[in-house]
Amino acid sequence: MEKIDWDILGFNVVETKSMFKATCKQGETWQAGALVPYGTIELSPAAGVLNYGQGCFEGTKAFRTANNRVVLFRIDLNAKRMAVSTKRLCIPEMNKTFFINAVKETVLDNIDYVPPYNKGTLYVRPIVWGTAPAIGVKPVEEYTFMVFVSPVGPYFKGGVRPLHLKINKDYHRAAPKGIGNIKAIGNYSASLYPLTKAKSEGYDEVLYLDAKDDTFLEEVGTANLFLIKDKKLMTPQLGGSILAGVTRDSVLKIAKDKLGLDIIETDITLNELYNSDEAFCTGTAVSVSPVGSITDDDGVHSLSDGNIGPYTMKLKELLVGIQREDIDDDFGWLFPIE
Ligand code: COI
Repeated sequence: MEKIDWDILGFNVVETKSMFKATCKQGETWQAGALVPYGTIELSPAAGVLNYGQGCFEGTKAFRTANNRVVLFRIDLNAKRMAVSTKRLCIPEMNKTFFINAVKETVLDNIDYVPPYNKGTLYVRPIVWGTAPAIGVKPVEEYTFMVFVSPVGPYFKGGVRPLHLKINKDYHRAAPKGIGNIKAIGNYSASLYPLTKAKSEGYDEVLYLDAKDDTFLEEVGTANLFLIKDKKLMTPQLGGSILAGVTRDSVLKIAKDKLGLDIIETDITLNELYNSDEAFCTGTAVSVSPVGSITDDDGVHSLSDGNIGPYTMKLKELLVGIQREDIDDDFGWLFPIE
């Protein structure tokens, strides 16, 4: 293993020792796979995933904790969501135990790549796609599931800092009855053009509005969005195109149980966001990331005077504290793997 400088990790791909691989035919169930050396894979140019985007993924992290053990965080929720995503995309529905075992096996075999306590995390990417060829649009005959890992640092360059978001009304992230509520690969390809444009203008991410009315907050690129106003924590409600984020759910529970905030999941307008006390976004990759400003056609709307809001800070500390075992895991969210 090449020496890794844990102090300069970004959110990039680092090659590790191994990856997990399993295959399954349409109509069959996922059976035991195996670890194989990390490396490239061969694929037919007619593979379902390449031509028609038949693929979905998950994202989770392994943490090295203050108790010097390695833990996964709420992996049961990722397993549940993978089952929902695979079903929606006509991929053989993935069994939860199979999924969790594959993740555990991969992390264990790559344990040396889990950054030391407080120096980053091991990002885990389970991904499944249609491997068999198809030229007509249909679910293909065979699927491949892989789990690979990469040690990572902060998602956004510069670490934890207030993000600058751009509203782009020319694009939507996902349609209400489409696939925005699952982790379909196509949701992320749709975001690349507006994201690249926003980044070239100096913004960190795009804030999308809902595809039906162009009125309600949707998501921030790869993350769920929250605002706080007068001890109320608000976030767009699930049920349409919003992704049921694992961090989203965790923050809601921490805010209610540990900070006594009122939790409101509902449709939220831009004005409510502009008038909020503070805002932040959440995701496995971004953790809890503060929002410093939102720019729309009328100009820049600053939040928390461009600083990190106090509740945002507290929620981040509590979430990361649980994940790193700095504080007790009262919710029973950790899955130790060694
Ligand atoms: C995650 O937060 O883990 C995600 O899956 C978002 C990813 C596209 C970076």
